[in-house]
Amino acid sequence: MSENEVPNRPEAREAPRTHRVAVIGGDGIGPEVLAEALKVVSAAGVELSTTYYDLGADHYLSTGEVLDDETLARLKSEDAILLGAVGPPIGSSSVPSGLLERGLLLRLRFELDLYVNLRPFVGTPGSVAPRSDFVVVRENTEGPYAGEGGFLRKGTPQEVATQGSVNTRHGVERCVRFAFALAESRPRRHLTLVHKTNVLQFAGDLWSRAFAAVAADYPGVETSYQHVDAACIYLVERADRFGVIVTDNLFGDILTDLAGAITGGIGLAASANLNPARTTPSLFEPVHGAAHDIAGTGAANPLAAIRSAAMMLEYLNELDAAKRIEASVLDLQADTTYWSNTWSTAGVGDAIAERV
Ligand code: IPM
Ligand code: MN
Repeated sequence: MSENEVPNRPEAREAPRTHRVAVIGGDGIGPEVLAEALKVVSAAGVELSTTYYDLGADHYLSTGEVLDDETLARLKSEDAILLGAVGPPIGSSSVPSGLLERGLLLRLRFELDLYVNLRPFVGTPGSVAPRSDFVVVRENTEGPYAGEGGFLRKGTPQEVATQGSVNTRHGVERCVRFAFALAESRPRRHLTLVHKTNVLQFAGDLWSRAFAAVAADYPGVETSYQHVDAACIYLVERADRFGVIVTDNLFGDILTDLAGAITGGIGLAASANLNPARTTPSLFEPVHGAAHDIAGTGAANPLAAIRSAAMMLEYLNELDAAKRIEASVLDLQADTTYWSNTWSTAGVGDAIAERV
C-alpha cells in the first residue's frame, strides 16, 4: 500500500448514495431561485437525483387540477422535496384566491404530516437586528390553517363566516417537544412560548399546559412566555434575546415574515417543513412568495432558496456540504460589495457556488 492511500478515512468507506429529490419550482420567481440553489448544491459536491414536478398556476390552468393523488403518491416516495414558491399573481382572475396555496403547499404539509416549520434567522450587518441568532419553530398542521369553519347564509346581509383554530394535545405537544430538544442542543438553551393566552383562553390554555408538561423533561432549558403582540415589539427592539421561539401556525406565519424583515430581508429567510419521524419526505422552501412582479428580471435574491437547500442537505445528512454552503452565504454577506444591490439572481448563485 502506498503512503497516499488512507483506507480508514470515513469518507473512503461510505458508499456513494444519491438522494432522490423532488423539485417543485412552482410560480413566479420559484423556478429561477431553485436553479441557483441546485447549482450551489452541485458545486458543494453533492449529487442529487432530481425529478421536476410541473405544479403551480400554469399546471392548474392547463389541467384543472392542483395536485392529483397519483402525483402526491410519487412525491411521497422521494427522499426530500425542494419547493420554490406557490401562488398566482396578486389580483389574478383565472386562479381563485388561495387555491394553489391550500391545494399544493398546505396539502403537502398536511398529507406528509410536516408538523414542524423550522425557520432560522441570523441578523445580517446593517439589519434592524444585526446580533440576533434565533430559530422559530412554527406548528405546521393545525391552528387556523386546519380549515375548520364555514359560512351560514352566505351572500345574504345576515351571512356568518366562522374560522376555527384546531389545537390538539398531540399536535401541540409534539411540536413543543421538538422545540425543547432543539433549544437544548443550542449554545443558549432558551425557549420562548409565543401565544395570546390572555384572549385565546382555550387554545392558549392547552398550549401553556403542554409547554409546562414538556418543560419538566428538559430541566436544562430556560423558558419564557410572551404574548404575540409584545413579541413583535421585542423582535424589533431586542431580537438578540431570543434563542428558540415556539408558536402556533398563524402566529408563526406572521412572526417569521417580521423576523425576515428585521434580519436582512425576506430574500434571505429559509425554511424546513419537517416530519421529524421521517416516515415521509420533508419539504424545504424559501419563506418568500412567488413575487411575480420581478419574475424573469434577474432581481430575485436566491439566498433564501440556497439556505433552504442547505437545510435539506443537513436533513439528508450531507453535513459537510450544508456547513460549507451556510459559511459561503455568511462570507458573501460579509463582503461589502454584496450590499451594493446590483447583483443578479445568477450572479449571487455563482458567487456562492465559487465559495463552496
Ligand atoms: C408561508 C406562506 C404560506 C403560509 C402560504 C403561501 C399559504 O406564507 O409559508 O409562510 O401561510 O404558510
Ligand atoms: Mn408566510
